[in-house]
Amino acid sequence: MPKLKTLEDLKKLREEAQKDIKVRLETGTKITVGMGTCGIAAGARETMHAILEELKKREIEAHVTTVGCIGMCVKEPLVDIEQAGKPRITYGNVKPDMVPRLIEEHLIKGNVVEEWVVGRLPTTS
Ligand code: FES
Repeated sequence: MPKLKTLEDLKKLREEAQKDIKVRLETGTKITVGMGTCGIAAGARETMHAILEELKKREIEAHVTTVGCIGMCVKEPLVDIEQAGKPRITYGNVKPDMVPRLIEEHLIKGNVVEEWVVGRLPTTS
């Protein structure tokens, strides 16, 4: 990150960050990783890292965010994928080596990886 020397530098940085957030939100895809203590203990940081790497590698724009407890310790790491007009899908026990298939199947081909699903919420939008 560049050093901030003036108020102008700070404003510029803020504008760039807001632009980036806007682009990510407009993609219509939101990926949420549970980062409660049990999630972290189960490897959620590594899973998050693998998701970010895979999206970057495939040049996919998505809004990736974290939450604390998702509420199913035993299924951590938990990853939620929400896409406009589709049900919100929660995947459980998502290890880094599962991420490429998850991105390929769910985000690129539009198929839910049924055997990894632990929860599903109906469409809200
Ligand atoms: S503390 Fe584990 S899911 Fe909440």
